[in-house]
Amino acid sequence: MRKYLLVTALLGAGLFFMTFCSIRKSEPVTGNVFVPANDQIAHGEKLFMMHCQKCHPAGEGGVGIAINPVPVPQFVKRFQVRHGLGVMPSFKKDEISDNDLKDISKYMRAWSHYKKKQ
Ligand code: HEC
Repeated sequence: MRKYLLVTALLGAGLFFMTFCSIRKSEPVTGNVFVPANDQIAHGEKLFMMHCQKCHPAGEGGVGIAINPVPVPQFVKRFQVRHGLGVMPSFKKDEISDNDLKDISKYMRAWSHYKKKQ
């Protein structure tokens, strides 16, 4: 009887260690990762995720068209955001302020440069 208790205890301990001591920590992020170079770009990234990501996922085509490869100047892109076109809604100043839009613009430029280098 004692032997069984010992075996059970050992198995239990083994199970315990296997479960709780082998939990892997997440892998460190390696390779080329987009890191916003400054606060404005980081802010722009956040706003882009809120307002634009759903139609332009990562600047690629989705509901909206791909905007990364578009070689038009940023002010034209900002005009597009203010006025909308076709399916794309327009965003007024009370939704996205001028400064916010500049940050989004900075983010879009930084991001498309980053994508080109991939
Ligand atoms: C509801 C979906 C939707 C959302 C949200 C949206 N877009 Fe668009 N976007 C589109 C569509 C669709 C087009 C293509 C319009 C067309 O040419 O008819 C477009 C076009 C554009 C273009 C023009 C590209 C070109 O070459 O003409 C830019 C720049 C752009 N979007 C940026 C943005 C930004 C920045 C945001 C966030 C503030 C945003 N969009 C949010 C759907 C969307």
